[in-house]
Amino acid sequence: MSAADRRVSVVVGGASGLGLATARRLAEDGDLVVIGDVDGDGAERAAKALGEDHEGWAVDVTDEAAVQGLFEGVAARHGALHGLVNCAGVSTLSPVVDHDAAEWRRVVDVCLTGSFLVLKHAGRHVADGGSLVTLASLNARQPGTGMAAYCAAKAGVVALTEVTALELGRRRVRVNAVAPGLVVTPLTAPAMDIPGVREEYVANTPLGRPGLPDEIAAACRFLLSDDAAWITGETMDINGGAHLQRYPDLMGLVTKAFA
Ligand SMILES: NC(=O)c1ccc[n+]([C@@H]2O[C@H](COP(=O)([O-])OP(=O)(O)OC[C@H]3O[C@@H](n4cnc5c(N)ncnc54)[C@H](O)[C@@H]3O)[C@@H](O)[C@H]2O)c1
Repeated sequence: MSAADRRVSVVVGGASGLGLATARRLAEDGDLVVIGDVDGDGAERAAKALGEDHEGWAVDVTDEAAVQGLFEGVAARHGALHGLVNCAGVSTLSPVVDHDAAEWRRVVDVCLTGSFLVLKHAGRHVADGGSLVTLASLNARQPGTGMAAYCAAKAGVVALTEVTALELGRRRVRVNAVAPGLVVTPLTAPAMDIPGVREEYVANTPLGRPGLPDEIAAACRFLLSDDAAWITGETMDINGGAHLQRYPDLMGLVTKAFA
């Protein structure tokens, strides 16, 4: 493959968890990968581990100037952007009636407004025929107690993804979401220490186990590839069938654990 034919992909939130696994998978498949993350050192470390030609940048998805700078920089250095996966996300746990409004805004700001800013600026620079992937969640369709901000933000990500797919279709740019169920990463690991949480998730998952980061990375790889050339505006559930059952009562389990 000549340098001019090489696919350039950006993974935002790529310093950890699902984003890191996705960045690795894209690099293994030959893409030049640019990792953006609010953890700039982590992004640089991750990029270096992929090989000399990959790049890591500090970017906070809630800061429009920083997001704009990331994508303008990619366009200036590499000429084109072929693929994007936005994995930046945070969560919180609180009942609605006790929810701190600033904490609500933090989660919605990173998960939903951040996705908007990333799609806005990636959409300006993606080559015709390129592919953009957002990270929704099982919680976009399945409510969980204590997870109002996260559920609302992820449902918003699905709607945002669909509207963007409508608007960019005329440039043959595809826009899809991946919606994972439980995958153990630094985001979810703390909840795994709460008695009953892991067991309830597994009991409500027909395939009987949490997912693996590489399984989410494989779905992102597929959606970025030409094998998905006629798929847009789709939210792909990857959850071992958990969407067919019910979400664990997380708030109930937490309350019981700390009673
Ligand atoms: N792990 C799961 O079970 C699961 C399930 C469904 C959806 N998701 C979603 O997948 C995505 C990745 O989650 P993960 O489990 O890999 O979590 P993670 O915490 O391991 O990784 C998230 C990354 O996003 C970065 N980030 C956080 N805030 C940011 C900001 N303001 N700007 C830029 N980067 C920021 C973090 O530094 C981190 O590197 C998230 O959107 C999450 O909501 C995860």
